[in-house]
Amino acid sequence: MAYDIDMIRKVYSQMTQRVNKAREVVGKPLTLSEKILYSHLWDGETTQAFRRGKDYVDFAPDRIACQDATAQMALLQFMQAGKKTVAVPTTVHCDHLIQAKSGAFLDLQAANKSSREVFDFLESVSNKYGIGFWRPGAGIIHQVVLENYAFPGGMMIGTDSHTVNAGGLGMIAIGVGGADAVDVMAGMAWELKFPKLIGVKLTGKLSGWTAPKDVILKVAGILTVKGGTGAIIEYFGEGARSMSATGKGTICNMGAEVGATTSTFGYDDSMERYLNATNREDVASAANEIREYLTGDDEVYANPEQYFDEVIEINLSELRPHLNGPFTPDLATPISEMAVKAKENDWPINVDWGLIGSCTNSSYEDLTRAASIAKQAVDKKVKARSDFGINPGSETIRFTAERDGLLQIFEDLNATIFTNACGPCIGQWDRSDRKGDEKNTIVHSFNRNFSKRADGNPNTHAFVGSPEMVAAIAIAGRLDFDPTRDKLLNEDGVEVMLDEPTGIELPPKGFDVDDPGYVAPSEDGNHVEVKVAKDSERLQLLEPFEEWDGNNLTGAKLLIKAFGKCTTDHISMAGPWLRFRGHLDNISNNMLIGAINAFNMKTNYVKNQITGEYDGVPVVQRAYKAAGIPTVVVGDHNYGEGSSREHAAMEPRFLGVKVVLVKSFARIHETNLKKQGMLGITFQNEADYDLIQEDDTFNFTDLENFAPDRPLTIEVIHADGSKDIVMANHTYNQPQIEWYKNGSALNLIKKQSAA
Ligand code: F3S
Repeated sequence: MAYDIDMIRKVYSQMTQRVNKAREVVGKPLTLSEKILYSHLWDGETTQAFRRGKDYVDFAPDRIACQDATAQMALLQFMQAGKKTVAVPTTVHCDHLIQAKSGAFLDLQAANKSSREVFDFLESVSNKYGIGFWRPGAGIIHQVVLENYAFPGGMMIGTDSHTVNAGGLGMIAIGVGGADAVDVMAGMAWELKFPKLIGVKLTGKLSGWTAPKDVILKVAGILTVKGGTGAIIEYFGEGARSMSATGKGTICNMGAEVGATTSTFGYDDSMERYLNATNREDVASAANEIREYLTGDDEVYANPEQYFDEVIEINLSELRPHLNGPFTPDLATPISEMAVKAKENDWPINVDWGLIGSCTNSSYEDLTRAASIAKQAVDKKVKARSDFGINPGSETIRFTAERDGLLQIFEDLNATIFTNACGPCIGQWDRSDRKGDEKNTIVHSFNRNFSKRADGNPNTHAFVGSPEMVAAIAIAGRLDFDPTRDKLLNEDGVEVMLDEPTGIELPPKGFDVDDPGYVAPSEDGNHVEVKVAKDSERLQLLEPFEEWDGNNLTGAKLLIKAFGKCTTDHISMAGPWLRFRGHLDNISNNMLIGAINAFNMKTNYVKNQITGEYDGVPVVQRAYKAAGIPTVVVGDHNYGEGSSREHAAMEPRFLGVKVVLVKSFARIHETNLKKQGMLGITFQNEADYDLIQEDDTFNFTDLENFAPDRPLTIEVIHADGSKDIVMANHTYNQPQIEWYKNGSALNLIKKQSAA
């Protein structure tokens, strides 16, 4: 379980030297983000100033974290790389495969039964290759990482998009695809386009009903789901320093919802307090020694416009509580305006569920603030009108919250305490109150609220708010309830108001836990056998993808032209499909089934150009594959936004899709496509998206000369024989072109390991 203090000290001693050099080379004061990036260069001290948003740079991350859904494919890939142990401290966390239904005890038992072979596989492969293993029930990856491994100034990657949560402790922590994690596990550099920088200056101080969550809900409203793409968001100012480390974690966590590469905060007293409270006094003391290196230079924060690509200023004293949603996390509505907006948009007013927890908002402080509201309901004899569900972030949090009577307060309102796991946040929710697709509303303190995400129902309107606001709204049972203004009728028929929430940053009696759920790996894993049953439905050893034949791609048929938002959830849906994460053939049956076909506005209903018949996307694609016909997927803006799951890239690759041609990509998905040997390209002229027709055939005319910064030319032949020339841009650099040529990045690693 232990974090590696020697590694952290080494990072800090390099940091002082490397930051000083970088400041000299760059010739100006540095932001915190730049300090961390420049001190984690694969080649050591920098000799050049990198261009933000342009240069691809090799980095050496300090840690890797994987969750159970993505770890399966990552570790199956790592097994193919021929290494004895992972090159960088790595942990695996079992949190995504546990369904929320009856409550923690029974749900965990059920998961241990239904996903036993996957947990056993992950435990054995971790044991063999020197990876720390966190059992099911131990907690949600990002909460466990924050409590145990995150450290100011560090760089981490994780196979989950909310890895960014660790920015709450001053890290640069980035969500990546499994293939990127495999590179680093195998001792290779990790490549990233040097990010742009968005500075968010926080003035004033939060008070009353406003919480750190509202900061990011506000930022999401400003930046939208695309606004942070390719950028690190760095928060600073007196407002930043006045918030707890876990509050900062919430803000960084949801930076993923604006597409940001990551978010971070400078080291301060709140982080020191959190490190001390989580038994890492040695880390705090090491950080204190280089304090000025763990935050941006004074000059940067004094004149942010000169040093950031974009600056946003938010006065926390004026910030109001928000609810964001439905269906997208950037639709921000101040609570005070919700009544009007809900009516205008015909959002269901009655709230069925209030869900608190997830990796985003399950800190001790969050639970105390929400509990302070729940307790008032009990004391003031107000019955909760909605059902309550709580997902503690870790066993440490759960144990401590139970010890301090917090869970009992929720149970007094008939809340169900689910397992310390993702549950409803990732669609792992067997919702008993509503089956089918009835229109309904839920509120939660999670981060994502895309259609179908929580319960698979496209008509569930999910709104995101702070835990205390979720508690208040769940008690009122109404979406338009504004606790700063509205009264509730109690059991005696008396009108009462909820007082403002109160919270406790860290447990006064300290954190405590009986069994945190950690399993250390063997010192020597040589003898450990990794078990994958040949007839398993859930795990399948991988075969390498075929290499590119070096010829122009011709005769490719359009598989689907996706309309509007096409997230990784649309490309590779979660929920019930999570069970096949380790079995590429089986999980490929969910490929693009959530994407809307632009020609008929239906999901999972596309034309098979061979037969002229319509069928599901995977069925049609398998028919093309069987006939040896390559295919193209066309998409809109920010294609592949959402999570880091590389299945969204591996499935099309496995089923024979050759090209994804879109208006723009979400960063992680674009990289994942490249890693898997796919051609991920963008329309040079966005309006050309409209030229694509249902029966189109694509011929590339200059792919043979595939080279960095050289656009590609595609002849698009329509059914009537007419043709359009579409120019496509790409962001492949030379090493990435080598991945394409070799069929995948992993094929290249294998070749290099063998050489
Ligand atoms: Fe899990 Fe939801 Fe976080 S799926 S990792 S709790 S975003």
